[in-house]
Amino acid sequence: MTVRPAREEDIPSIARVHVQSWRTTYRGIVADAFLDGLSYQKHEEGHRRQLAQPDAIYFVAELPRDGIVGFLMGGRERSGNVQFPGELYAIYILDPHRRQGIGSALVQQWAASLRRAAVNAALVWVLADNKPAIAFYQRLGGRQLGERMIEIGGVSMRELAFGWEDLTPLDRKVG
Ligand SMILES: CC(C)(COP(=O)(O)OP(=O)(O)OC[C@H]1O[C@@H](n2cnc3c(N)ncnc32)[C@H](O)[C@@H]1OP(=O)(O)O)[C@@H](O)C(=O)NCCC(=O)NCCS
Repeated sequence: MTVRPAREEDIPSIARVHVQSWRTTYRGIVADAFLDGLSYQKHEEGHRRQLAQPDAIYFVAELPRDGIVGFLMGGRERSGNVQFPGELYAIYILDPHRRQGIGSALVQQWAASLRRAAVNAALVWVLADNKPAIAFYQRLGGRQLGERMIEIGGVSMRELAFGWEDLTPLDRKVG
């Protein structure tokens, strides 16, 4: 398994992983109609815009036979939180490849990138019903910081923030 910075030509694969992971992860949490209506093309457009940002943090996890099976995107915290100036925007791994250390390897690269940019504290938002992801962030030392309500497909849902005050141990955890 290789973790490497994402490139423009990876965008169709990233969009495929994103949409397929949403459908497997959020079935039963997010409305079926919303999940069924997700568009590969719109996700490609969104990722293309995001990847073009100068301080975007973008990594893919690639396997020799399967190609890109996971990605992570992150960067500066988006609401102006001065205590946690870095953010993990999204991390998605295709279902059959979960629980094999890929997520941890991606997070390690994210933490290392933030630290290189002199950002040493960061957070991530996760749906409160996404218990496996919460277990993952807690396993990596994330501490629950707060909560908010967001709307997905017209339905109000609770999100929790997990944060790391010091990314140093995360950076060193693997690799
Ligand atoms: C959450 C996710 C990114 C984790 O990546 P991963 O490669 O599966 O995780 P890792 O193999 O690195 O797991 C590291 C540790 O986290 C914990 N963990 C990971 N997945 C877990 C799960 N489903 N249940 C409980 N603990 C879990 C475990 O302690 C695990 O160590 P172990 O396997 O030795 O017990 C991945 O499962 C995923 O893409 N899930 C669906 C999408 C998603 O929810 N994204 C987050 C949105 S905020």
